[in-house]
Amino acid sequence: MTQPTHVLAIDQGTTSTRSIVFDSAAHPVATAQCEFEQHYPDLGWVEHDPEDIWRDTVKTAREAIAKSGIDARAIAGIGITNQRETVVVWERESGRPIHRAIVWQDRRTAKLCAQMKADGVEADVRARTGLLVDPYFSATKLAWILDNVDGARARAEKGELAFGTVDSFLLWRLTGGAVHATDVTNAGRTMLYNIREQRWDEELCRLLRVPMAMLPQVHDNSHVFGYTAKDLFGTEIPIAGLAGDQQAALFGQACFETGMAKSTYGTGCFMLLNTGGEAIESGNRLLTTPAYRLDGKMTYALEGSIFVAGAAVKWLRDGIGVITHARETNDMATQVPDNHGVYMVPAFVGLGAPHWDPDARGSIFGLTLGATQAHLARAALEAVAYQTMDLAHAMEADGGKAPAGLRVDGGMAANDWLCQFLADMLEVPVERPIHLETTALGAAFHAGLATGVWPDLAALGRTWSQGRMFTPAMKSADRERLIAGWQQAVRRTLTD
Ligand code: G3P
Repeated sequence: MTQPTHVLAIDQGTTSTRSIVFDSAAHPVATAQCEFEQHYPDLGWVEHDPEDIWRDTVKTAREAIAKSGIDARAIAGIGITNQRETVVVWERESGRPIHRAIVWQDRRTAKLCAQMKADGVEADVRARTGLLVDPYFSATKLAWILDNVDGARARAEKGELAFGTVDSFLLWRLTGGAVHATDVTNAGRTMLYNIREQRWDEELCRLLRVPMAMLPQVHDNSHVFGYTAKDLFGTEIPIAGLAGDQQAALFGQACFETGMAKSTYGTGCFMLLNTGGEAIESGNRLLTTPAYRLDGKMTYALEGSIFVAGAAVKWLRDGIGVITHARETNDMATQVPDNHGVYMVPAFVGLGAPHWDPDARGSIFGLTLGATQAHLARAALEAVAYQTMDLAHAMEADGGKAPAGLRVDGGMAANDWLCQFLADMLEVPVERPIHLETTALGAAFHAGLATGVWPDLAALGRTWSQGRMFTPAMKSADRERLIAGWQQAVRRTLTD
């Protein structure tokens, strides 16, 4: 009998799907990854084909297991982490989606959200969900599908359709249609879940005309949700952890104490501050969100969500051809002595926290004939740091105390220049762990806790190890001048 010793994490992100096998020392032993197609059917619309997501999930999971050299029976459990808010609606009978997934970045429901705000419902939504009324969250996207796909609402009312965020859809598929469930962190991003009472909110479902029959069951993050259908991996593996990717990264960074914060640099940038058992209502337009729930006990976080971080670098590469590889930005930023007065406000899909302006669009200020490609690259990196700083200030204003340090992860955290600039702007040490795949690790931690690979949070905390620490070094006059330039650029970008 093979002893289960490893955990498989599936990290289904906005632009790629990745599977990583971790050993019991929390070391990644094998990885497989696929990028998939983005669909932009209209201005501000972003869609994914759920079948692409499913195909890549199975492919990368099988590949990672094969590369790891271990038998699938040695996998104690699977943890799934995912791009949050993205909406999938599928037929319970066939498992077929009735529409492409509407992605978190999609702005098609901006008008509906503006109407909801004009109707004065935002304060109530906020009190129940911890969120603001914005197209970012799942509820209005789900309402759009119910309103625009022929017969969808009637079928949903009859119980024929299921709604889920991507975790839920994958769980359904992996279990061969046996389980329709999600976890508190994903439910908490739908704008339909009452994070204080920890249940789907009937009032909000009524407001958005969402039939409750289509909603998944909500569980703790570490929980045996179900088992994989036998034909997928040759054995039934427990699916024992689910978490939205940003909450998974907080967990993977071992930010288990109140006051600890992390920032993840993927497509967007998401900074989360652990606030313990207290759901702090933000006075600065941050989100209140479940961080994790273990054995029924909820830990909350304050979150600042920035929609574009790595996506700005991707745009430099794919949109205007300024670079051929993302890592070039590190050298380009150091090639020039300063930013030459060039600022980029990457509002490509509107601005998130703390501005929440869905109609703002990306802008570049301060161009002179002396500006070069290197200045553009530097402006894109600087913008990521300025935005993180804005979030840290908002957190400080909400909690009365700034985080004493920041743990960073995600692809862009490999960029030394960015990490140093971040430390300079935030004026706190920036800590980078050895392994930057903390999102996947967080999902693995949840699955490993539920299946006995790790006994408790203390054991998880001991696996965290620092790769490099960046300490603030910039003169305050330089810092203030840069920040003033950024603030002016933001003011000129906002639409209201
Ligand atoms: O809320 C959206 C977020 O979950 C997406 O994360 O890593 O795909 O940019 P990422």
